Amino acid sequence: MRALSTLGFFARLAMAAAFASVATAAIVHADAAGGEAGAPAFPVIFGGPFTLIDHEGRARNDKNFLGRFLLVAFGFTRCPDVCPTGLTAMADALDALGEQAQHVQPLFISVDPARDTPEALASYVGHFHSALVGLTGTEAQVRGAARAYRVHRRKLYLPDSTGPDDYTVDHSSITYLMGPDGAFVTLFPYGTDPSFMAAAIAKQLERAPPR
Ligand code: NI
Repeated sequence: MRALSTLGFFARLAMAAAFASVATAAIVHADAAGGEAGAPAFPVIFGGPFTLIDHEGRARNDKNFLGRFLLVAFGFTRCPDVCPTGLTAMADALDALGEQAQHVQPLFISVDPARDTPEALASYVGHFHSALVGLTGTEAQVRGAARAYRVHRRKLYLPDSTGPDDYTVDHSSITYLMGPDGAFVTLFPYGTDPSFMAAAIAKQLERAPPR
């Protein structure tokens, strides 16, 4: 999953550069919204209840994950480029956190439940990080989770599609950091440097150490 094409690599580099300034701006705003001083700059609208099925086939909901920080990413196992890159960055950030990573649960929520069975997710998430939990469910369950996180997803048939199951899914590529109480903390746009992500998470762990 990490072995991507050379073209893909340079395309990602270009995208990372293009989004770097956007990433910084977004994080500054998110911090302002969640900061200690005064009222939030804008309403925090990310996150909320969900009920899904994990990659081992067990029913899991948002309450099951309370008590630890969550890194939440949405995507699908057949995503050619964005998901593998984002999940690799997430894994690198967790590795950079060392022992502190035990307080952070990474989640990968499918936007493509029709093809992402628990079995498909099980063989996928292990490529990135041993702690990564894959979540899928019925179309209604996934729609509920995507709505809670304001995640855009759209099924697209490319011109060279070979049939009804040969489609891609356009989806938003933000990684959300949620607190031990389940509330939104901050977000990391696609292209965020893993060391930046690790430092931002470490700062939150200092502020609100999990009990
Ligand atoms: Ni993707």
